[in-house]
Amino acid sequence: MLKNKNLFLKQLEVGEMDNFTYFLGDNNTSEIVLVDPAWDQEKLKKEIKKQSLIVKAILLTHGHFDHAMGADSLALYFKVPTYVSKNEFSFYKPKGESIVEVDDGYTLNVGAIQIKFISTPGHTPGSMCFLVENSLLFTGDTLFIDGCGRHDLPGGSATDLVHSLHHIIGNLSDDTLIYPGHNYGSKKVDTLKNQKNTNHHLQPR
Ligand SMILES: [Fe+2]
Repeated sequence: MLKNKNLFLKQLEVGEMDNFTYFLGDNNTSEIVLVDPAWDQEKLKKEIKKQSLIVKAILLTHGHFDHAMGADSLALYFKVPTYVSKNEFSFYKPKGESIVEVDDGYTLNVGAIQIKFISTPGHTPGSMCFLVENSLLFTGDTLFIDGCGRHDLPGGSATDLVHSLHHIIGNLSDDTLIYPGHNYGSKKVDTLKNQKNTNHHLQPR
């Protein structure tokens, strides 16, 4: 399904809330970032070691504990920065000196792979999606396969979520592959085109 052979991607299901942690990076250099590393940190470390991967950074789609609980200790362990939206509530952000607060449009290269940070508020004020090589989108709790995240938690906004789904994610290429933050759907990845057909949160309003 991946078109870019240089892209390294591993989707790991972790914890008791069906979360996904992703390893994402460059096949040629083995450099990766950890997206939403949470729950079973030993499992993540073991997998990283087994595949001889080089962790360069941690990226958080948002600060909820089920996505961010591994960030503090893994950042310390691998001596890497953690990227989180500057708009995220401070009480959702991990602590420590290695936090890098970023804005919409920020880009990060891992080896030759480009990751663009896209601000998609609604689930939390600082929810972000990560667009990789213009073809894969890591959506955290903003968009699930055939669902979307809650907007009734602290800092959530239904209006913002609808805007993010329809006018930010909805404007991306139909070929974009959607990689959600939880395994809540009937599949683990889908195209935006399919989701526009089957996910009622993306239907025209
Ligand atoms: Fe969340």
